[in-house]
Amino acid sequence: MNILGIETSCDETAAAVVRDGSEVVSNVVYTQIPLHTPYGGVVPEIASRAHIEKISEVVNAALDAFRAAEPGGRIDAVAVTYGPGLSPALIVGLNAAKGLALSLGVPLVGINHIEAHLHTPFLYDRGTPPPETGFADFDASLAPALGLAVSGGHTNWFAMPSYGEYHTLGQTLDDAAGEAFDKAAKLLGLGYPGGPKIDKIAREYLEANPSPDLIPFPKGRPREGVSALSGLPADMCVSFSGLKTALLRYVQQNPSLDVPRVVASYQEAIVGAVADRTRTALRRARCRSLIVGGGVSLNSRLRAALQEVAAKERVRLLVAKPKYCGDNGAMIAGLAYCRRNVAGDAALALDVAPSLEAG
Ligand code: KG4
Ligand code: ZN
Repeated sequence: MNILGIETSCDETAAAVVRDGSEVVSNVVYTQIPLHTPYGGVVPEIASRAHIEKISEVVNAALDAFRAAEPGGRIDAVAVTYGPGLSPALIVGLNAAKGLALSLGVPLVGINHIEAHLHTPFLYDRGTPPPETGFADFDASLAPALGLAVSGGHTNWFAMPSYGEYHTLGQTLDDAAGEAFDKAAKLLGLGYPGGPKIDKIAREYLEANPSPDLIPFPKGRPREGVSALSGLPADMCVSFSGLKTALLRYVQQNPSLDVPRVVASYQEAIVGAVADRTRTALRRARCRSLIVGGGVSLNSRLRAALQEVAAKERVRLLVAKPKYCGDNGAMIAGLAYCRRNVAGDAALALDVAPSLEAG
């Protein structure tokens, strides 16, 4: 089954064709990063306009590459992100997907963006070997799993007792990890998006200083009993607003700033917080595996820290290939294959859900 997946929830216009949920036949991502860079963050109106300008080109490129790879092949369904994300951005992808599904006479599948990030470790490129364990083996060899979605918009931990089931164990109470990276980079004048820039500067600093004298920034632990926890345990949640304030105060108090040391210390606070909650969740939910997705899973320190946690807790770690960590259409098409809620005409009534939660 070949599914066309469309993604426009934030600042990437993306489309891909995926066969049977994991073999990526074509994958096209147009990133709007240069358009948002002058503003130091994503501007919804600019994102929406750029999606409108690019959506046809991106979808056609994905379909052309699919037809070139598989002459005579047909698209069996169209999948699209309907939430969470920026409303004016989501609408562009959803409307394009509806039009395509109608014209091709195939079902439309609405996909949750966070859940799709957790499908990315199962994606592989056509002509390359598939991952050792596919999603079809999930229940037999990976469940119960811990799902960690860590991106610019989300930092969530889910218990996944079987494939497609997500129960929230913990989350950020304010900024997502990626947002915390981006805001720090903006404050330090490092440019947008901040994650890759901070990763690189910190990596060089840590390579040059094997025993670094890091600044003890707060490790993002929320206070017990705050209402934002919404009943979740404090030791399974993170809060990065205090970290951001601590950085601002440090910058104000230290005019001659050692930027690489500050950046490495700040990254360590985020990585430490995410790794700590992950360890707690793995133990609490007695997981056999750890499934990680989202743009921040590209972070080299976070990858190393999660590898260490997984090894210590004796669980299997599944992380996406770097090209599938950021937003893409392949994760949307891939997860759609696992969905049985492929609807007919009723799907055309599907609306965007900017605050959609997983599960
Ligand atoms: O998954 P993604 O492409 O979009 C969302 O769904 O949010 O994630 C984008 C986020 C940005 O905040 C970006 O700074 C962060 O991922 N990011 C990184 C790295 N590469 C991207 N954060 C830390 N280290 C990186 N190497
Ligand atoms: Zn994302």
